Amino acid sequence: MSCSYPVLKSHKFSIPICSLVAKSPTLTYPVHKSQKFSNSIPISPLVLNSPTLTYPVDKVTTLVPKFSINCEYQTERGLEFDTGGAFYRQESATGRDLGVLAASLHKKSNGSLRVLDALCGCGIRSLRYLAEAEADFVVANDGNDFYGSTIAENLSRAMKGEWLVTHLEANRVMTDYYMQKTFFDFIDVDSFGSDSSFLRSAMNALRYGGLLYVTSTDGLSSGGHLPHHSLASYGAYVRRLPYSNEIGLRMLIGGAAREAAVLGCHVTPLFSYYAYHGPVFRVMLRLIRGKVHDSRHYGYIGFCNQCGNSHEFSWDELGQMSCSCSMPEVSKSLSVSGPLWTGPLHDAAYLTDMLNLAKQWGWVGCDTKENSLEKLIKLMVDESDPKLPFGYIKLDQLASRAKINSPPLKTFMSAILKKGYAASRSHIETNAIKTNCPMTECIIIAKELMQLSIAS
Ligand SMILES: C[S@@+](CC[C@H](N)C(=O)[O-])C[C@H]1O[C@@H](n2cnc3c(N)ncnc32)[C@H](O)[C@@H]1O
Repeated sequence: MSCSYPVLKSHKFSIPICSLVAKSPTLTYPVHKSQKFSNSIPISPLVLNSPTLTYPVDKVTTLVPKFSINCEYQTERGLEFDTGGAFYRQESATGRDLGVLAASLHKKSNGSLRVLDALCGCGIRSLRYLAEAEADFVVANDGNDFYGSTIAENLSRAMKGEWLVTHLEANRVMTDYYMQKTFFDFIDVDSFGSDSSFLRSAMNALRYGGLLYVTSTDGLSSGGHLPHHSLASYGAYVRRLPYSNEIGLRMLIGGAAREAAVLGCHVTPLFSYYAYHGPVFRVMLRLIRGKVHDSRHYGYIGFCNQCGNSHEFSWDELGQMSCSCSMPEVSKSLSVSGPLWTGPLHDAAYLTDMLNLAKQWGWVGCDTKENSLEKLIKLMVDESDPKLPFGYIKLDQLASRAKINSPPLKTFMSAILKKGYAASRSHIETNAIKTNCPMTECIIIAKELMQLSIAS
């Protein structure tokens, strides 16, 4: 299905998109909730409802495409919108649910919500921040001005809040707001790959106490296949680890923690979410004013390929890293990555509030078992047990080290709990457990279980 928009002579595109995006500080598209859209977008670009950005009126370019665009209607949580040929993944809906819940809680506790959706695609997140989180004001930015009319039409469906569509390079739009000392409560950076250049500009444009929702889709770096790349992007030399998908989250948080420190701030994760499609690593961070003079949660992770145990090393242990299985020599079998975030991935209290809100909104119990938002948030709450360290143990890897069949997950977990260790399932890997029980001890427990099952 395709639809076309009427083109007004004065609003034709004549400049290549890239040059517009790269050069024009003025490529904004001011719109207001009260403007009605049928199949056209507003032709008066002169009324800026944004209290913040004031671009010279004579340079404002509207975004009416003169060509046909593809309309493809989708529905998310009952909201209909058009993807308009923009990058859109239905599988990312859970990530958007989590973002909206966190944004709504922020609005409830702060009284107002100004959102910057820096890489908005068709504008689905912006629409949801307006309609569901009841944002007072949303800037929906995407570097590709081809999506302008689609974004505007989608946002007009929100029926509440004010909004503005811009087509600037993401760093540029965030830096512009920062330069004007106009800050946001919530910034969503849904970027591709491991583009960490957005971290600094997003933090600059964020209020203290505000929330920053960041993304990485760089599974090669988290998997330890491109250590020089992860070093350049996040300042972490990442090597292959058996829990690489959790490392992806820790790499991203660590990179953000480093940027925050440069700005005299620190970050705490409210939740960290891994989704296998992509893969996608998403983290919701709160930016807090003031440096923490404590590197407790930012250090090195070592994995011993010989015994399978993991270790955390602090900065003052640099040069003395070894595994107890080969002490006192330097362990050749030890593979060390870092610096990475080694602290908590989530804030259990915030997640509990998010779950309660999801229940209140009727978002719980209406999804499939595999895509259950309730199940996901509950798993994240379980993972937040402060006794649980980084990483997880995959049961097939345990079985291969123990040279036995993989034990049933529930049985194995309760055996570990009975021995006094902490344990939870992982939202990242279905057949894995997070535990403070070392691999060597897990092997003993698994073998005991096997003996018991043979005897019975
Ligand atoms: C992952 S998609 C966004 C998807 C959208 N947030 C959603 O949830 O459906 C990334 C978007 O960023 C835009 N983009 C890529 N690089 C950009 C940049 N440097 N500045 C602004 N937009 C950019 C692309 O045009 C694309 O639409």
